[in-house]
Amino acid sequence: MSGLFITLEGPEGAGKSTNRDYLAERLREQGIDVLLTREPGGTPLAERVRELLLAPSEEPMAADTELLLVFAARAQHLAQVIRPALARGCVVLCDRFTDATYAYQGGGRGLSETRIALLEEFVQGSLRPDLTLIFDLPIEVGLARAAARGRLDRFEQEGRQFFDAVRHTYLRRAAEQPQRYRILDAAQSLGDVQLALDKLLPQLLELQRG
Ligand SMILES: Nc1ncnc2c1ncn2[C@@H]1O[C@H](COP(=O)(O)OP(=O)(O)O)[C@@H](O)[C@H]1O
Ligand SMILES: [Mg+2]
Repeated sequence: MSGLFITLEGPEGAGKSTNRDYLAERLREQGIDVLLTREPGGTPLAERVRELLLAPSEEPMAADTELLLVFAARAQHLAQVIRPALARGCVVLCDRFTDATYAYQGGGRGLSETRIALLEEFVQGSLRPDLTLIFDLPIEVGLARAAARGRLDRFEQEGRQFFDAVRHTYLRRAAEQPQRYRILDAAQSLGDVQLALDKLLPQLLELQRG
């Protein structure tokens, strides 16, 4: 038995967490075993690494340190949570995964994709998401939503150029591999985004059945 690995991606405030919970409800209504998780984090140890990554700090974090911390947390998350859940046949809904590393550390920080791909292979082997939902929206809209949530984390404090590169990287990756990605217009009302997810549901159920 092997489950289905679905990741949700997009910038701050795109609605990933809100819609991950929505999608989980829809799948559970169908009697499907769903596991909700997120990155960076997803295990107590990986959540501690998340805190290191997100906390604004006086000592600047080198881009390579950031990249290695992201993959260290991911290795833990895969070992403790994601791989066992997939082996049990769960649908895993993960709020951010390695596409976020390409977008933030690659696009945003300017680290080379070749190095990211090397670590991806090292940490994940052949494991890739079965499907990635990209919640796409204009940068200002997402930042305004994130700002309304309260204090900005180390990434949310970045500037416009950084977020342009993040968005561009997500969209480019989706265009390069259209079978693995679905792009959702996250600037629509929440109701409309959820209608779009409802329309996607039959495809997810199809994938789940293999
Ligand atoms: N389509 C939408 N329209 C308006 N507000 C939204 C929409 N989607 C999410 N929100 C709100 O924006 C904020 C950020 O949503 P969240 O799901 O936490 O985003 P993310 O996890 O992508 O950062 C929340 O307050 C949420 O209720
Ligand atoms: Mg979130």
